[in-house]
Amino acid sequence: MSAETRTHPGKRRAGASGIPETMRAAAIDRFGEPEVLTVHELPVPSLGSGEVLIALDTAGVGSWDAEMRAGWYPVVPPPFPLVPGTDGSGRVTAMGAHVHRFRKGDAVYSYSFANPKGGLYAEYVVVAEGKVAHIPKGLTLQEAGAIPTTGLTALQGIDDALEVKAGETVVIVGASGGVGTLAVQFAKLREARLMGVASGEDGVALVRSLGADEAVDGRHGDVSEALRKFAPDGVDAVLGLAGGDTLDRAVKSLKDGGRVAFPNGVEPRPKKRHGIEVIAYDAEPGISEFNNLSVAVEAAKLKVPIVATFPLSDASLAHKRIAQGHVLGKIVLDIA
Ligand SMILES: NC(=O)c1ccc[n+]([C@@H]2O[C@H](COP(=O)([O-])OP(=O)(O)OC[C@H]3O[C@@H](n4cnc5c(N)ncnc54)[C@H](OP(=O)(O)O)[C@@H]3O)[C@@H](O)[C@H]2O)c1
Repeated sequence: MSAETRTHPGKRRAGASGIPETMRAAAIDRFGEPEVLTVHELPVPSLGSGEVLIALDTAGVGSWDAEMRAGWYPVVPPPFPLVPGTDGSGRVTAMGAHVHRFRKGDAVYSYSFANPKGGLYAEYVVVAEGKVAHIPKGLTLQEAGAIPTTGLTALQGIDDALEVKAGETVVIVGASGGVGTLAVQFAKLREARLMGVASGEDGVALVRSLGADEAVDGRHGDVSEALRKFAPDGVDAVLGLAGGDTLDRAVKSLKDGGRVAFPNGVEPRPKKRHGIEVIAYDAEPGISEFNNLSVAVEAAKLKVPIVATFPLSDASLAHKRIAQGHVLGKIVLDIA
């Protein structure tokens, strides 16, 4: 979309398909502080043969969205006006000719990083079919919209990067954040013995309530002592979701042959040391990846902590809240 294609408010005529020509979206015309994120009236993206048009209910708000708003965007030149938003949920409104997995009205969730036809901070989004799936049973549309990025990252960290097995001792650093609160539950689903390193006493209480066997405050507690008590013979695996001294302490506690995994973006990256494996990874969407996520969500009876909900028109406030830190779980935009 270019600036020339912007239309004026009020032209919300529906075409022959019943789909409006324009939509409300929280978008930016230039990179900058949260204030650059304002409500725009933009064309509803056009639908290609392998794509799905979704009327959005909920969009997730992540630190990566804020980084993209501030200038970290993989496409040069950036397609202003640029609609951020990496994940969310909603109802299928139309399908391309080659799409057969969905029907109009299906409740779906989606993850599409730097989505080519605009992000999910909008009333409508068009995404590639492989980046969409039916929402898992047991979740509301809002809960499903909160988890595509964090859920795929958490599950792929536990299952694919660390390959956690029943009975192993696992430590999650950053356990009270968006990815961590879900990773705790997936590690317990795989029957690990789990210690969560959380932020603050409220973070410790949250990760205990989500099933962690032990939890310690990584900001103020004695993490090394807690690790020694938890696993006197060393830890099998560490998932690093917050980098720095605390993560390095957890890595030191790994036994020989142990492994640490972290999604790219965690800084500083955990230090390498002899005898352990260090695994960097990215969350991957796809039909089988979403299927794995939905199966795990249903088996775990996943709890989705949503700490704050903002209307689409307050997307800039949601980004300010992200910048304050100490988000216990996830922030979402309520679009419907
Ligand atoms: N490459 C990928 O595909 C991918 C996908 C998703 C996420 N990521 C990355 O993964 C990371 C985690 O994402 P997220 O959404 O879970 O972020 P988040 O919600 O900010 O979670 C990080 C958590 O770590 C906590 N923390 C920081 N220092 C700590 C310490 N010393 N001890 C204990 N807890 C500590 C933070 O608490 P406070 O805020 O209170 O400090 C926060 O709760 C981010 O770096 C993100 O960029 C990468």
